[in-house]
Amino acid sequence: MTMLFHASSLEAITRIPDRPLGAFSDYVVETLPARLEDGDGEAMRRGIYPLIPEGLTQNFNKIALLDLKMVFTACGRMAVRCGTGKEEFLNHPVHRKLMEAIRQVSPSTPYIITYDDIVINNPESDPRVFTTGRVGYSEKQFYRGHRIIEGHLDASIGTLKEVLSGAPSPIPLLETCHESLRGAQKALALFLTELRTEDFLAFKPFFDTNGYTGEKGPSGAFSAKAPHVDILVYGRNLPPGCGEYLNANADYFPEGDLKAALNSLADGASLFDMCRNPAMQDCRAVCGRIAACLVGFRKLHLKTVLRHIGQGAHGSAEGKFAAGFLESRVRAFEGLRKDLDNLFAVRHPGLSP
Ligand code: HEM
Repeated sequence: MTMLFHASSLEAITRIPDRPLGAFSDYVVETLPARLEDGDGEAMRRGIYPLIPEGLTQNFNKIALLDLKMVFTACGRMAVRCGTGKEEFLNHPVHRKLMEAIRQVSPSTPYIITYDDIVINNPESDPRVFTTGRVGYSEKQFYRGHRIIEGHLDASIGTLKEVLSGAPSPIPLLETCHESLRGAQKALALFLTELRTEDFLAFKPFFDTNGYTGEKGPSGAFSAKAPHVDILVYGRNLPPGCGEYLNANADYFPEGDLKAALNSLADGASLFDMCRNPAMQDCRAVCGRIAACLVGFRKLHLKTVLRHIGQGAHGSAEGKFAAGFLESRVRAFEGLRKDLDNLFAVRHPGLSP
């Protein structure tokens, strides 16, 4: 895959409509991005109010929830632009009606879109976006790129679990895992080389924390598959606080993926500990490459963040703060990778790292 963000227009894509809430879903797909572009919040709220469905139940699917949250998130964005106060926002009839509908479909989900809603549940054949034209296309591909990476991470989780449950021939499985992680890295590289910063900055505000509800917006930081891979590679050797962080942010991670990651954390098996066993000495080289790949992914991610929101022309306080945090993560995982190498150096003197 070499082209993810090549210039195209959102309007040029062929859709297969997937509209669980009828006219409301039609509005989300066909009208919402243009209303956001106009910046006329009042017209948007007037248009959407009569379409907000009532009497929904938990039988509605995840796309229905995505549609409701797209509008709620858009309303939050519009309100910020107009300087609306918290009470005014939370008491507005449109916002109240939307919040009620979201609660009917799901009793505990955040009101704003989560990573699960916008990335995982966003239908490929009838995508939801906040922006129009070329930027809208980049936005759609931004979600698609994350899904591609999720697919690679999922494959690596599968092979790591097989190895850790005692598969008789671990080396080919570990090689496959390494390939999957390389695939994730290659897809991430396209966010650095192809994505236009101006496009990213145009849709990024829709991922902001909602100041009215205090809810956090979607971020790759809420992919549970990424920490799941870390857990399977390093287990109890991970920097402290990994489980606490996952639990504290449970609402923002995809539920099933989070549960799977926490189960693996509780189970405790890891490549790192497996490699302590002299009988597994032959796995050493490929485990070292897997560890290097995790560091490589984080370094590439940091470079991507610096390009789009960090220092330089688009530098922001937020970018600098995030860069500091992400640099500390790179250092921590570099340290773990070295510990893994040292483990062999100690256990098997004479072997080069
Ligand atoms: C333009 C592209 C991207 C930007 C600007 C970006 C930005 C950020 C930022 C600012 C953070 C810090 C936490 C936060 O404030 O939310 C973060 C964390 C994270 N992002 Fe991204 N991200 C991008 C793409 C991706 C992609 C494609 C993935 C893959 C799923 C990803 C996965 C992660 C992970 C796993 C973390 C947690 C950090 C860690 O575990 O070391 N990001 N990202």
